[in-house]
Order: sequence, then C-alpha cells, then structure tokens
Amino acid sequence: MALLAQRIAALGTENAFKVGGDIAQAQALGQDVIKFNLGEPDFDSAPHINLVGCEEINSGNSHYCDPAGLPAFRESIARFAGELRGMDFDPEQIVVTPGAKPPIGYSMLSYINAGDEVVYPSPGFPIYESFITFVGAIARPLHLREEKGFAFSAEDLEPLLSEKTKLIIINSPSNPTGGVLSPDDLSQIATVIREKCSPDVRVFSDEVYDQILFDGETHHTIANLEGMAERTIIGSGHSKAYAMTGWRLGFAILPTVEEARIFKQLNINLVSCVPPFVQLAGKEAYDNPESTQVVAHMNAEFQIRRDIVVEGLNAIDGVSCQTPRGAFYVFPNIGGVCESIGALEAHQKLDDSIRSKTSPSTLVQMYLIYRHGVATMDRRSFGAIGSESMHFLRLSIATDLESLKTGVERMRTAFSDRDGFARFVAEGKYLY
Ligand SMILES: Cc1ncc(COP(=O)(O)O)c(C=O)c1O
Repeated sequence: MALLAQRIAALGTENAFKVGGDIAQAQALGQDVIKFNLGEPDFDSAPHINLVGCEEINSGNSHYCDPAGLPAFRESIARFAGELRGMDFDPEQIVVTPGAKPPIGYSMLSYINAGDEVVYPSPGFPIYESFITFVGAIARPLHLREEKGFAFSAEDLEPLLSEKTKLIIINSPSNPTGGVLSPDDLSQIATVIREKCSPDVRVFSDEVYDQILFDGETHHTIANLEGMAERTIIGSGHSKAYAMTGWRLGFAILPTVEEARIFKQLNINLVSCVPPFVQLAGKEAYDNPESTQVVAHMNAEFQIRRDIVVEGLNAIDGVSCQTPRGAFYVFPNIGGVCESIGALEAHQKLDDSIRSKTSPSTLVQMYLIYRHGVATMDRRSFGAIGSESMHFLRLSIATDLESLKTGVERMRTAFSDRDGFARFVAEGKYLY
C-alpha cells in the first residue's frame, strides 16, 4: 500500500513560492538578490482599510460567520463589481473566499469530471494547469503569442474547442504577460463560445487584476456580453488592487444562485468562512472613496516603472519585450539570449533525468539568481505543457525603481557572459 493517494502526484504548484528558497540559498552564498519574482504589490494595504480590520478584531468580531460571506460585504461586492463591469449582480450569486485562488480550484471541483477538457491560457497562472491535472482533466493550453501582445482571438480558441470541452479559462489583465483582451477580442471569443459550446460549458474569467490597467484603459469582462452572464464565473479579490495579499480575501460571482450554493458548500468543507474582520476591511476598501486615490497612485507608479523596464530590456541584445497593458509584470522573450549564451545547447546536453525538469529559460533563471543576484521566473512556471520551444522570463515590476534599474543592468551583464554561464551549468548545482 502506497503512503500517498495517487491524485497527489498530479498536483502542481506555484513556483513563485519555491523561488523564495533559491533566493534564501543565493543570499546565504553571499548574493544580494533583487526580487523581480514577487506577484504582489510592494505597497502596504491602506491605513483606512487596516483601521477597520483592527477595530473589528478589538470589538470582538473574531468568530465564525456566514460561509458564503457576510451579507453586507456581498452587497458591497455586488455594487462595486457590478459598476466596474456595467452589470447587475445579486449578492446571493457571490461567495467570499480566502483569496482569488480558491475559485479556480472550486470551479474545477464543481464542473469537471476526469476526461473533460479544459482550455486555459499558457503562459498563465500556474494553478490553472495544476488543478486541471489534479482533477484528471485533459489540458488544452491556449498558447498566447508575443506578436499579439499576449491577447488571443476567436480563431486561436476555436480549434481547441471540442465536444469534451467543459471549462474555458480567461485571464485579462493577465499574469504573467500583462496582456489585455480588447472588447472586440472578447466579443468574438463570446460568439465562438456561444456557437460551439453547449450551455453547460462554463467560462472561468479570472479578473483579479481588474483594477490594474495602464494608459487610461478600463476593465472589460466577457460576462456582460450576450448570453455570457449565464455561463461565466468571475473570480476576483482584494490581493492586487488593495495590496491585501496576506489578508486572503477574494470572491467568486457565479452564474446562478444554485451554483453559488456549491461554492459555499466547498467553503464549509474546506475553510468554513473568511474571517469577518477581513471581510469588513475588504468592504471598507470598496465603500470608502479614499481607495480610488490609493489605487490610482499605485497604478501610476507601476506605469512609470513599466516604461523604464520595457525600454531597458529591449535595449539588451537578444531580448524583446512587449509593453504590458495591465497587471504588474513584464514578460520578455529571451530566445536570443538562450541561443547566444549557450542555454539551448546546455539544455540539450543535460542528462535525460534533469533535462525534463528544466528548460533553457529555467537555466537562465537559476543563473541569474545564483550568479547575478536577480530573481525572475521562467516560462515553465506558467504552464509547462507544450512550452518546450518557448523562452521567456517573467519580471514583476512591483519593486522600487532603483532596484528595477539595477536589476536590468545586472541582466545585461549576465547575458553577455557566455563563459560565466557555461561555468554555472558545468557546476551542475542549481539547474531547476
Ligand atoms: C491570475 C491570478 N489569479 C489568481 C491569483 C490568486 O490571488 P490571491 O492571492 O488573491 O489568491 C493570482 C495571484 O497571483 C493571479 O495572478
């Protein structure tokens, strides 16, 4: 009898949490590491939000509460999320979760049987692929292309749809690319879904970056297009816009009240409820007009950093970097560097047992952390299936401007040192 259940072998992970270990090791070896790996704002949650959380705890509001979420908070979500999307939501369609992550797994558990197909963006948030394999579904990665600004169109989606398709995941603005789907893209995507998929096929629209958009753009959701509200689960939350990652606050808006009851039941089984003081701090974030300034200030900072980093990266030989339109990441193509520095060749020459666990961009990622003190994330961390010939890194711009400039300079130096890279690989220590 084996110790572990078989399903555990199919569960993936989020490497952003693993890189922390590599950073600690590199630091122990004497590197000072600039962190481009973080998927969270480098701002703190705002004082008016913190105050409500503290006051609620101090007044004793620290007990179990409604597993679907406090009715007053769900009303705020219905109002705020509805205004942002030009839609009307019933609070009974909403379930509050500990972060925007649980609605991803809840959707897989609620709608997917083994053998069903799930279409999802790749590169995409790693939990999509992790949960798809965990529930025994067939992964249908929709490979996002640099030349389309990492958006996709109905023509890209259509060939992936089949009679077995059960769930289609959309993420705009996107992690890790910063790509944004335009209203026109969304409208054509909705048309193809309406035409090709049965009404029981669900769309999971991950909109956790719904307030982080640049150049004056506004948020658009597939859910408010004809026939789509009844098929779409919207996932979002407070982690990104309000810098509340550690508070663990998110929510799902389900197409029907009956489906919301399933998510509530999953909450009951897994977490019981989200702490009431956290929810009331989240309500304050939505209700207090001061939040508008706080979010606008953070976005303006991200936009300044984006412009500097994209320019800096594009000035490095062998790197090409699109300008993201939302979220706080840039996703440069380092194919030229993988070639010039010898990463393609080095990867080919690795032992089979190691080669399958790494990739040329992983080798570059590890070389950057251990030899040049820059922590980035490789392409494989955002969906490994079918990503073999794709050579990218993700850099978070949620780091102060000076560190960003220094980090880009370090990358330029690293990428011109073919011998240093060869020595790093020959040492064979940190290859994945
Ligand atoms: C696309 C996407 N969805 C969901 C999440 C999860 O957010 P949370 O930390 O609120 O669970 C993240 C976090 O990085 C994300 O990037």
